[in-house]
Amino acid sequence: MNFMNRTNPIGVFDSGIGGLTVVKQVASFLPSENIVYFGDTARVPYGSKSNATVIEYSIQDAKFLLKKNVKMIVVACNTASSAALNELKENFEIPVIGMIEPGARTALTKTKNGKIGVIGTYATINNKAYSKELKRLDKKINVYEKACPLFVPLAEEGLIDHKATELIAKEYLGELKELGIDTLILGCTHYPILSKVIQKVMGQKVTLIDSGTAASGIVEEYLRARDIKNPSNIQGEHKFYVSDLPAKFKEVADRFLGKPVKHIQKIDLEELIGH
Ligand code: DGL
Repeated sequence: MNFMNRTNPIGVFDSGIGGLTVVKQVASFLPSENIVYFGDTARVPYGSKSNATVIEYSIQDAKFLLKKNVKMIVVACNTASSAALNELKENFEIPVIGMIEPGARTALTKTKNGKIGVIGTYATINNKAYSKELKRLDKKINVYEKACPLFVPLAEEGLIDHKATELIAKEYLGELKELGIDTLILGCTHYPILSKVIQKVMGQKVTLIDSGTAASGIVEEYLRARDIKNPSNIQGEHKFYVSDLPAKFKEVADRFLGKPVKHIQKIDLEELIGH
């Protein structure tokens, strides 16, 4: 790749707003990289859809990013990572990074008792994406998985420090706690928003793994290994595209990104599907 390619943006896509938690990590780890984000807000959620549908949508999302000349694709959505990563890698020549392997690798470096919990959407948990990856990396590891679908709307509603969230967290996580896990993978874009209450319910001894943070390190490794890291010293430009602009988008997006989201553009779904 030549110098021009190095300044090309990193493409990040998600089923909706949640992937902004991943953008937040990538941007803080790689501040000079330009980023183009696509959130499929018209078709969210992916977590309750079939693998065939998630694969179809993910390929469309990735093709949209390619039109923006991205040098790499980060699949911020854990559901898409669990269902479509192989298809994406087969279909595109540029590097494609999902959330599963980085999250699993980091969890294995943290666990001491070999008992790892994974929480995610129904699709991610049904696909057993994390447990397969963890066992591929370490046959002896014990993995316990649990779908926590209500965490997504709770995070979007901003019920972060709320007793309803704590009650639901206790209901979802009680079993994992009893099983004695010492590491818990937050296998969904939205869950880092609720990490405080999850930590409170699980207890301070359990290490929480944010897949977005784990993936940022891998993104940097990939860029460096391929010599396509942006050499600039100035702050990268971030652009955001969505397939729908729900009324509360900006408010939720600002919370997920941790600062005001600028340059949001809505694209037509036809444009996305019609490649
Ligand atoms: N982004 C999804 C994930 O990380 C959560 C929201 C959805 O179900 O689409 O799995």
